[in-house]
Amino acid sequence: TTKRPLRVMIAGAPAAGKGTQCEKIVEKFNLVHISVGDLLREQVQQGTPAGKKAKDFMDQGVLVPDEVVVEMVKSRLAGDDVQQRGWLLDGYPRSASQAEAIEAEGIRPDIFLLIDVPAELLVERVVGRRMDPQTGAIYHLKYKPPPAEIMDRLVQRSDDTEEKCKTRLETHFKNVDSVIGYYRDCLCEIEGDHSMEAVASAISAALDQAYAKIGDPLEDF
Ligand code: AP5
Repeated sequence: TTKRPLRVMIAGAPAAGKGTQCEKIVEKFNLVHISVGDLLREQVQQGTPAGKKAKDFMDQGVLVPDEVVVEMVKSRLAGDDVQQRGWLLDGYPRSASQAEAIEAEGIRPDIFLLIDVPAELLVERVVGRRMDPQTGAIYHLKYKPPPAEIMDRLVQRSDDTEEKCKTRLETHFKNVDSVIGYYRDCLCEIEGDHSMEAVASAISAALDQAYAKIGDPLEDF
């Protein structure tokens, strides 16, 4: 029998390493990566009505209203690729009301990964982050130095300043406990203050375990 694919949520403070780790998870488990921050940035860039509503909130480092986010996530989760390959939901839910909205649809993860990084490390990770607009690759000036020949084209996210990072951190720490409350039964905390490779292998082991626990389709009844 073939098992159904994994369903994973990944959470953590700004710059905890969610995006970095999601790339590695996708390589190994072939899940569909749904990054709510990336989806929102696309909408902003394209100037859609949702993007226009979202922009100011994102620039301030606070949560975009549910009316923009919830439907966007629900419709992405309903996609055929997601049904077939499973999902890796990155940056959702970020509040009790967002958790309620998908609980109501019966959408739950097999595992809820929470990457823990001490607050004092996060600011340095945020301000040193750079993105390659041509490939989408994420670098860090100190921890993942970009090749010299692409240095000139790298960009910095508009919310990656020290000041905005503080607001983003406050938003995260204000909300995280209420979100975790919904997922205690499948919560898996990962120490995020190690090398990217070490964090990746801890996550990989946790996902192997979660996958082993999924029964075959008949046993799921
Ligand atoms: P989003 O894009 O999700 O931003 P975030 O949560 O602040 O997370 P980041 O993307 O900053 O960090 P990350 O954890 O992915 O870290 P990364 O791997 O890049 O959200 C942006 C905004 O959108 C929000 O502020 C909000 O306005 C809105 N939004 C999003 N979701 C929403 C929702 N559900 N509801 C409402 N609004 C929403 O790593 C960071 C840096 O550190 C990189 O440079 C990386 O190279 C480096 N690094 C990574 N791992 C390590 C390591 N182990 N050691 C050393 N360096 C490392």
